[in-house]
Amino acid sequence: MPHSRGVEDHLTVGRVAELAGVSVRTLHHYDRIGLVRPSARTPAGYRAYAAGDVERLREVLAYRRLGFGLREIADLVDDPATDAVAHLRRLRGLLLHQRDRAAATVTAIDRELEARAMGIRATPEEQLKAFGPQLYDSIGADYPATRRTEPRIAARVWEALGDARTVLNVGAGTGSYEPTDREVTAVEPSAVMRALRPAGAAPCVAAAAEHLPFADRSFDAAMAFSTVHHWRDPVAGLRELRRVARRVVVFTYDASDPGWLQRFWLTRDYLPEFAGLLTDWPSLADLTRAIGGRAEPVLVPWDCADGFFEAYWRRPEAYLDEQVRRAVSVWTRVGPEAEQRAVAGLRDDLASGRWAERNRDLVALDAAELGLRLLVA
Ligand SMILES: C[S@@+](CC[C@H](N)C(=O)[O-])C[C@H]1O[C@@H](n2cnc3c(N)ncnc32)[C@H](O)[C@@H]1O
Repeated sequence: MPHSRGVEDHLTVGRVAELAGVSVRTLHHYDRIGLVRPSARTPAGYRAYAAGDVERLREVLAYRRLGFGLREIADLVDDPATDAVAHLRRLRGLLLHQRDRAAATVTAIDRELEARAMGIRATPEEQLKAFGPQLYDSIGADYPATRRTEPRIAARVWEALGDARTVLNVGAGTGSYEPTDREVTAVEPSAVMRALRPAGAAPCVAAAAEHLPFADRSFDAAMAFSTVHHWRDPVAGLRELRRVARRVVVFTYDASDPGWLQRFWLTRDYLPEFAGLLTDWPSLADLTRAIGGRAEPVLVPWDCADGFFEAYWRRPEAYLDEQVRRAVSVWTRVGPEAEQRAVAGLRDDLASGRWAERNRDLVALDAAELGLRLLVA
């Protein structure tokens, strides 16, 4: 290791250990395994840490605190695509998530203590559920890779918002469909999704659609995009949108038509398990009634920019891509067995020409009716 000029700007290993609250042995170990290598030595031969080394150490220690293993941390901090700001954002999101999980666990324990004090025992399912992850807290990190604004569909949503000046976006995720020319407030229950919102995005409240923390008629309009199917109680959530806003715009899909499963080759020929995800799903009439509105079809363009489940209906190879699938909750919800089988079947049919033969009519279409609907009230 070279003696560096300006080593007086560096921190000695002892000082770094003291400041960071770790042992000198730990720092020596990180150096030996190449995780954090101090870039210089003092004339007396002590390890000396430059500002960049300290920055890297700080990232390592934060990931460590979150429970990551040293090997995983090495991959994370060596990723050339992630700069210091991106690390800080990711760490912040993960820490907020951990904090929320801890708070939820405390609440669940308090509830069980209260119940026990009254002689009530929680069922095994209830006990476990309190510790299970929220879906989007587990899959959210993969979302931004392929999920982004589809301008043609966004235009429909924004037009439906009419002259609304204040807009509440419920189940906002990373905010792909938030209009930039109005005053938007977002609602998002997943800490991971909240942390992934870009800098400068609209302020976001941690809450769920079923209990919106706003007074009646607080907003000119409320919108919900591609989220209602995740709500524990869709009708209650839609009524909440209706309560807090004069106008309501919801992008969702119609599962009540018995032919819906046949409409899309992916669910028809490869993933029939999709139907099982919708057994408790209210009819389109019930959803529309909850906001007192009407439903308009939304066709999916062949080159849809937002990678939702139906987006690649004319680009079947996309579904072979793990990154595409990880950004769509359906694949996680059907489970790995169904996913692997569906992907293997599709891969075979694409290679043999069977897919092309069966879906020959699609090539001529620029947009497809796959049951997506805009509910407007
Ligand atoms: C498919 S993402 C859509 C995100 C965003 N609207 C978009 O179009 O990019 C679904 C979102 O709904 C959120 N969500 C799940 N349950 C919810 C609930 N009960 N109330 C509000 N949002 C919920 C999830 O955390 C997730 O961010």
